[in-house]
Amino acid sequence: MSEEEIPAYLPVERRLVLGVLVSGRGSNLQAIFNAIEGGRLDAQVAVVISNRKEVPALARARACQTPSFFLDPAEYTDRADYDGALVQLLKMYAVELVVLAGYMRLVTPVFIDAYRDRIINIHPSLLPAFPGLHAQSQALEYGAKVAGCTVHFVDEKVDHGPIIAQASVPIFEGDDERHLSERILVEEHRLLPHVLQRYAEGRVGIQGRKVSMR
Ligand code: GRF
Repeated sequence: MSEEEIPAYLPVERRLVLGVLVSGRGSNLQAIFNAIEGGRLDAQVAVVISNRKEVPALARARACQTPSFFLDPAEYTDRADYDGALVQLLKMYAVELVVLAGYMRLVTPVFIDAYRDRIINIHPSLLPAFPGLHAQSQALEYGAKVAGCTVHFVDEKVDHGPIIAQASVPIFEGDDERHLSERILVEEHRLLPHVLQRYAEGRVGIQGRKVSMR
């Protein structure tokens, strides 16, 4: 091509390539699809991977014509071996950022090292309070007055990596796990796509434990 033929700008579509890991219902995955569809998130979900068979999240991926896989833990000798296969699959789809959206499996250094500072998790509590399972009932039993959700980078420890953003919801007298979870979930579905869009815009910076989001 001669110089005259080179256009003034290259109309190359450049969208953040996401890989989403799931284990169940997939409502956060759906929130990501909805945000993309609604033009609120400039990204594409290249692949969805589940560690559990036939979960609703996989059906949601199929409904959105997104490649989806059940990666069976039983077929691997240990967690590291499993994560090696996971990383291979993510790389095959040229995934740039991995989102753990209700992914109920411990991750190993094999995965974290391959995607250092490029794995994001959403957790239904205001971390560092109430990490681990059943965060909502932990908050209720503790007698907390405020609950919420946290989007954070993933590191070697469970629900521990640098916090990107949080949203809070009140806990009411007589609240139960179902109602509190529903209220938190509304915030999760808003917060996660919001953070992903900021990331896609290159507006998320990380320095040690401190994350800035412009
Ligand atoms: C969400 O509450 C998320 O914060 C937690 O697991 C749940 C997953 O829900 N990590 P869904 O599968 O996205 O509907």
